[in-house]
Amino acid sequence: MKFSRPLIAIAAVARNRGIGIENKLPWRIAEDFAFFKNTTMGQALVMGRKTYESIGRPLPGRTTIVLSRTGFSVPGVLTAKNWDEVAQLAPDKTLFLAGGAALYEEALPWCTELLLTHVHLEPKADAFFPDWTTHFDDGKVLETHTQCEMRRHLPKLAH
Ligand SMILES: NC(=O)c1ccc[n+]([C@@H]2O[C@H](COP(=O)([O-])OP(=O)(O)OC[C@H]3O[C@@H](n4cnc5c(N)ncnc54)[C@H](OP(=O)(O)O)[C@@H]3O)[C@@H](O)[C@H]2O)c1
Repeated sequence: MKFSRPLIAIAAVARNRGIGIENKLPWRIAEDFAFFKNTTMGQALVMGRKTYESIGRPLPGRTTIVLSRTGFSVPGVLTAKNWDEVAQLAPDKTLFLAGGAALYEEALPWCTELLLTHVHLEPKADAFFPDWTTHFDDGKVLETHTQCEMRRHLPKLAH
């Protein structure tokens, strides 16, 4: 399919492309939480059912859209059974793809931008971000911190 609106992936990615372990983040980095919050505030987040369960609640100030095939339903959260339904929801908001691994893998080809926090660690992981380097550029540095660096990557064809 072709996704019919802009989609910005936002993720924190380790050197080994690890993003999660046992349905949790492998780290706690305050600057990354702040970047995620500031960037997505007032907009819409789309996430997989497992990532939603890892967070455990809708994040304040944002519209939460959860993708699930198995009838997931929680008050205060929009549910979509497929990507076509996602594309119709929260049409007045910017759509941020907030994970996890399954959703990043499926939707990477439709992403119009990647906002990646590059984490300077190689943690044990069981969830990974897909290899973006063929189709996205090296990125423009947005923020630099001791443990991580935030970069905005655009599709190579856009240049
Ligand atoms: N570092 C980061 O930035 C970051 C961000 C987010 C998540 N994470 C980590 O990523 C890991 C979770 O990733 P994951 O791959 O296991 O799970 P996930 O992508 O969060 O969720 C997968 C679930 O989403 C639903 N789904 C996926 N594709 C779908 C489709 N096309 N249509 C309908 N439903 C669909 C299914 O739910 P049903 O089974 O209900 O059908 C599927 O089981 C955790 O460790 C989490 O901490 C890391």
